[in-house]
Amino acid sequence: MKAIVLNQKTYKLEIKDVDKPIISRSTVLVKLVATSLNHHELWTLKEKELRNDSNIILGSDGAGIIMNVGADVKGLKKGDEVVINPSLNWGTNNKVQGKNYEILGFPKHGTFAEFIAINHQYVCHKPVHLSFQEAAALPLAGLTAYRALFTRGEFENSNRILVTGIGGGVALFALSFAVALGAEVYVTSGNDHKILKAIELGAKGGVNYKDSDWSVKLLKMTKGFDVIVDSAAGKGFKELTEMTNPGARIALFGRTAGNIQNLNPSIIFWKQISIHGTTMGNNEEFKKMVDLISSEKIHPVIDSIYSIQEINLAFDKMAKGEQFGKIVINMDKFNNEI
Ligand SMILES: NC(=O)c1ccc[n+]([C@@H]2O[C@H](COP(=O)([O-])OP(=O)(O)OC[C@H]3O[C@@H](n4cnc5c(N)ncnc54)[C@H](OP(=O)(O)O)[C@@H]3O)[C@@H](O)[C@H]2O)c1
Repeated sequence: MKAIVLNQKTYKLEIKDVDKPIISRSTVLVKLVATSLNHHELWTLKEKELRNDSNIILGSDGAGIIMNVGADVKGLKKGDEVVINPSLNWGTNNKVQGKNYEILGFPKHGTFAEFIAINHQYVCHKPVHLSFQEAAALPLAGLTAYRALFTRGEFENSNRILVTGIGGGVALFALSFAVALGAEVYVTSGNDHKILKAIELGAKGGVNYKDSDWSVKLLKMTKGFDVIVDSAAGKGFKELTEMTNPGARIALFGRTAGNIQNLNPSIIFWKQISIHGTTMGNNEEFKKMVDLISSEKIHPVIDSIYSIQEINLAFDKMAKGEQFGKIVINMDKFNNEI
């Protein structure tokens, strides 16, 4: 089969012929129709944290059609339209992933390929109201947002929520989930147009984190937040703690703006706020996320859809932070070089 592999000498993505995966008794073979990009692939491309010399098939997100099922697989059959959970081997502790935990696509071969063989437990039926392109946008970002908002953020419908960096894939899912459940949601962004788009999607308001007085403006608009979903950390994190209501939770899942600086401990202990690290989620959370998408008829926000040949362009767009929502790749035409 054809796959988009990471050449570890040039650090470029290229199309190569690789062995088609063979199913075992517990796996299903999925023909991928669409995949989407995540920031961690960009980290892999930039930071070169590679562990072996072979060609690696990146890609965590995927939606497609089951072509074959292993002998022990129940509840799935050839022709089913499915979406793949990239959060592998979580383990038995719901509080944290175990030592064998992996994210699909690195180091295990991922979804930037014609086919993938994957254990049936990581496959869910595609929500019927979504196209393959929309379904491919769900897995990693939707799961991360679900755990950040509900499990770690301990979301309640009456809460006031802040989602930072709203242009991000995960951030937009957190906004969609909270708005669908009736919460009052505010956002930050480095781009005023993205704030306006978020308001169209149901946010009450937002501020530009590049303005020096962004946190003052945000506090004037609101009376503080019960849940903050943040992927930036960095210098602005201090202000996030200052904008919390007593007993609030901050769910932190990224480091886009670097290290946290100058936290005021008194704010943390006196307001009894909780800073909760969060990463991806377990299989149960994945199923609940897909159920929520189906029951609330949520459509993921898609920034753009690229062909396989344009994948490097698509990553350039993500690197520049120009996107609003998920960048999707159609996986149907493998015939040309990238
Ligand atoms: N722990 C996990 O499980 C997990 C899962 C997924 C992602 N992540 C991490 O979370 C981060 C976001 O991932 P993603 O896939 O959503 O990335 P993405 O789609 O590339 O979005 C990144 C977003 O970060 C925002 N941003 C940049 N500088 C910021 C700042 N100073 N303050 C606030 N926001 C800022 C930007 O928002 P605007 O465009 O609105 O300015 C940008 O859209 C990455 O660091 C990624 O590695 C972690």
